[in-house]
Amino acid sequence: MHILRSWEELRKWRNTPSERGLSLGFVPTMGALHAGHLSLVALASEECARVLTSIFVNPTQFNRAEDLALYPRTEDADFDLLRTTSCDAVFIPSVQEIYGASEPGPAPRHYDLGELESVLEGAHRPGHFQGVARILDVFFRRIEPQSAFFGEKDFQQLAVVRRLVETESLGVRIVEGPTHREPDGLAMSSRNLRLTPQARAEAPAIYRELHRLSKTLTPYNWPAELERSVDVLNRCSTLEVEYLEIAHRDRFSPYDGSTDLRLGPWRLFAAVHASGVRLIDNCSIE
Ligand code: PAF
Repeated sequence: MHILRSWEELRKWRNTPSERGLSLGFVPTMGALHAGHLSLVALASEECARVLTSIFVNPTQFNRAEDLALYPRTEDADFDLLRTTSCDAVFIPSVQEIYGASEPGPAPRHYDLGELESVLEGAHRPGHFQGVARILDVFFRRIEPQSAFFGEKDFQQLAVVRRLVETESLGVRIVEGPTHREPDGLAMSSRNLRLTPQARAEAPAIYRELHRLSKTLTPYNWPAELERSVDVLNRCSTLEVEYLEIAHRDRFSPYDGSTDLRLGPWRLFAAVHASGVRLIDNCSIE
């Protein structure tokens, strides 16, 4: 597996005669890799001749400096994990390499992400999706992959990426992979590494409640049932719900009770702080 730290190294790898013209699948990550990331690499290698994974903790998508400082960085373990997969190369640039300085300058432009920026993650993390769009715009234009692979855990991010590719005519096929879960249901996330033992023990309640709701919600009981789940979660000593909502799976507009939940395109979305670590999850309504 090639370890590429600069655009120049990446360009050389892509331009070697044996690589030229081969389809490239791209798996962008922020490292602290887990089985969810590895399944995206496996998906990419089924569909493309070569697989490139990036590891870059992108500062422009963090709206809290503390969150960026504490984001897990596990470079050597990540390389070891990637070596067990069919990943051909890993791109692990510095902030300077990407943004031209050790601190990124102001955003050169604004991306039109429409309503995606004013609901759920967009509303609760101001600027976050602009930062995601900024880095992926750079990656997609310079790496020129045929396909890029993202996990469904970041469900709204997937919609942002699809919109970016469409509005900027980036010509990359976006492929989604399912959320991977620990045996107790907790969605795999790089942030899980930061949970205290007590928070790790309580965090599976997030998916337990989502799953319970997905089976019991009706157009009549939904406000009370959502409230009940918020109470259950907030009663855990380490958990604090930021939001727990039913929203449209494409537009992310909130459910208002006027249509049948089970026939419509509705999905459950949650953001919960667990010992100060912000976790998100989502689930279809059965
Ligand atoms: O999902 C992530 O890990 C990040 O948001 C991404 C897509 C790698 C962009 O920095």
